[in-house]
Amino acid sequence: MSKDTISFVNINREHKIREKEIKKAINNVFQKGNFILGEEVSLFEKDFAQYCQTKFALGLASGTDALQYSLRAIGIGKGDKVITAANTFIATVLAITSLGAKPVLIDVDPTTYNLDPQKIRKYLLHAKKVKAILPVHLYGHPAAMDSIIKIAREYSLSVVEDACQAHGALYKNKRVGSFGDAGCFSFYPAKNLGALGDGGMVVTGRKDIAHKIEMLRNYGQKQKYHHLMQGYNSRLDTIQAAVLKVKLNYLDQHNKMRRQIAHFYNKTLQGVGYILPNEQKEAYHVYHLYVIRTTKRKKFQDYLTQKGISTGIHYPIPIHLTKAYSSLGYKKGSFPITEQICKEIVSLPMFPYLKKEEMEYVSTCLRSF
Ligand SMILES: Cc1ncc(COP(=O)(O)O)c(C=O)c1O
Repeated sequence: MSKDTISFVNINREHKIREKEIKKAINNVFQKGNFILGEEVSLFEKDFAQYCQTKFALGLASGTDALQYSLRAIGIGKGDKVITAANTFIATVLAITSLGAKPVLIDVDPTTYNLDPQKIRKYLLHAKKVKAILPVHLYGHPAAMDSIIKIAREYSLSVVEDACQAHGALYKNKRVGSFGDAGCFSFYPAKNLGALGDGGMVVTGRKDIAHKIEMLRNYGQKQKYHHLMQGYNSRLDTIQAAVLKVKLNYLDQHNKMRRQIAHFYNKTLQGVGYILPNEQKEAYHVYHLYVIRTTKRKKFQDYLTQKGISTGIHYPIPIHLTKAYSSLGYKKGSFPITEQICKEIVSLPMFPYLKKEEMEYVSTCLRSF
C-alpha cells in the first residue's frame, strides 16, 4: 500500500455514493427558496424525533447551541452548578459557562471513559447549588444512564445528555438522547450523522423545553416580532435539514459498518499490548471514534505517519488543564484517570467506507509496531 493512503476520517466516500440523492434534496430547497425554517426542517425534526424515540426535536445551528439552550431551558443560570465529565470535548463545558453557571468536573470510569456514577454520588454528599448532570456519550459509547438517572431523581437534578458523538447509540435498547430532560446532537460533517456544514439538534419529551428552545433559536419569538424572551439566532438551515433527512436513512447502516470495523480491529489487535475500547453489555456502541491506548503514543503516531496512516487524539489536554479553564480552580492531579487517558489515547481510522484492505493494513502495522 502506498504512502498517505489512509486518512483518519473520510466523508467524501459516503458523499460520492449519495451524491445524486443529496444534490436532488439541495436543489429542491434551492427551487423553493425557503432557506430559513423551511418545511424540510420540520420534516427532518419529525424523522429525527421518531428515530430517537422522543416526542420533540428542534434543529439548531450547532451541538454547542443545543447544549446551551437545553441548559437554559431547564433553568440553569448564574451560579448554578452542573456536573459533567472531566474527559470531554470543550464544547460541553463552554455551554455551561456561557450561561454563567459553574461546571463541576467529575473523573471518568477507566473502562468506558464516561462519567463515573460512584464519583458523582461522592461529590453530591456535600454539594450545594447543583442543578443538573450533563453526561457525555463519548466516542459513541453510552454513559451509565441507569445510575445517572437514579442519582438525578434522588437529588432532584435535571439531566441533559451530550449525545454529540453518539447518534443512534443504544443503552438497554433505548436511544441515547431520550433518557434525560433533553438530548443534544451535533451534525458537524464528520459525525455519525453529519451535515455539509454546522448543525445541531435538541430532542426532548418535554413540551415546555421544546417550546422554549423553539423561541430561543429564533430571537425569542414564536410569532414574528413578538419577543417573549431574549433569544438568539440559531436555526438549522433548510438546506442542511434536507441533506440530513436523506442521510438519516443510512445512519443505522453506517453505524453497523462502523461496528464491523471496530470488531475487526478488536479481533486482530487482541493481545498485542494496546488497551482496546470496551463495549459494556448494556450498550450499543456506535464508534464515532475507535480509541485505543498506548504508553508510547508519540513513537506510535510517528510510526503510523511513516506508514501513511493518519490518527487523531480526542483530546490531548483535559479541560481543567487548559488555559481557558484555569480559573475553575482545578490543578494537575485533580482527575487522575482523565489525565492518564489523555496522555495515552489515539483514535484509529474509523468511518463507514473504510475498505477491508485498509483496515487490514492498519491492523498489520499496529501488530508490527
Ligand atoms: C462531545 C461533544 N460535545 C459537543 C460538541 C459540539 O458540537 P458542535 O461542534 O456542533 O458545536 C461536540 C462536537 O464536536 C462534541 O464532540
